[in-house]
Amino acid sequence: MTTTTGTDVAHAALLLKQGAVVAIPTETVYGLAADAFNEEAVLTIFSVKQRPAFDPLIVHVRDREQLHRVAEVPAEAEALIARFWPGPLTLVLPRRPAVPDLVTSGLDTVAVRMPAHPMTRALLDELDTPLAAPSANPFGYVSPTTAQHVMDQLGGRIPYILDGGACTVGVESTILGRDAKGRWVLYRPGGIALESIEALVGEVHAPAQAAKPLAPGMLESHYAPRKPVHVGDVPALLRRFAGRAVGVISFRSEHHAHRCEVLSPEGDLSAAARHLFAVLRELDTSDCQVIVAERFPEEGLGRAINDRLRRAAAGR
Ligand code: TXA
Ligand code: MG
Repeated sequence: MTTTTGTDVAHAALLLKQGAVVAIPTETVYGLAADAFNEEAVLTIFSVKQRPAFDPLIVHVRDREQLHRVAEVPAEAEALIARFWPGPLTLVLPRRPAVPDLVTSGLDTVAVRMPAHPMTRALLDELDTPLAAPSANPFGYVSPTTAQHVMDQLGGRIPYILDGGACTVGVESTILGRDAKGRWVLYRPGGIALESIEALVGEVHAPAQAAKPLAPGMLESHYAPRKPVHVGDVPALLRRFAGRAVGVISFRSEHHAHRCEVLSPEGDLSAAARHLFAVLRELDTSDCQVIVAERFPEEGLGRAINDRLRRAAAGR
């Protein structure tokens, strides 16, 4: 299959209506989208991504009407929706029967968000159904933040990549769900800072241990480059790997190493998050033998950065 990249929203809409899988830009990362109500098309997402069927997808909705078609919306969710949508917040809510089991992996909840990227909003306007979309990377690898990233890995497997430029948030959406007591639970730190959410709804809890298999985004080894990744004190890690070609990922300061990528010299965690995945990919395809990253401040988007780096390093 030949993969084309372009900015033709009408063409992407036509392909999606025909049941094809199309890569779409969102403000967080690129998604691999299909009509959420077309099971055949959704199945193609799983095969293109080589994603296990136990890992459910996020449904991307255009508006309230589509939200209510896929989920039951508790009153407690209203403030979050009003404040953060469209934007990088995913809510795990009780599902409606119309959602195919394949999308939710048979769970009685559905993950849903309203994306903010203008091109994908224009695309949703041309469709009558929401889009199921995971990140547009092979399962387990780093998520794509440019159309080229998608082409590098999924070229030849999908017909079209809608090119909306580099993603402005750069890490995936924050995922919130509710526990049996109706308290908000953080399944995945992401593009909306936990502090902003807690300022609105009060304390957000950690998921119960038993909930973990229900959110496979929480799989330990994930978002992982092929090269070994180590997270910690950079000077100590550089001593440990002396003699090897080390690629360093640093927040604000330069280190003397084979390569050093500074994510934000001005010390802005949002800017650092925006650059993280591109830098991980770059170092992964460079001549570096080992990737070493510092631990970021555990606040704002630093939580999402630390989460992705920790998973990239897991099992090594
Ligand atoms: O920013 C994002 O969220 C991007 C863009 C494309 O929207 N999407 C994304 O999708 O990161 P994906 O599939 O890579 O990650 C979605 C995560 C998965 O880890 C999945 O386990 C979790 O959401 N998830 C989906 N439905 C769920 C549910 N019903 N309960 C718990 N977790 C769920
Ligand atoms: Mg993903």
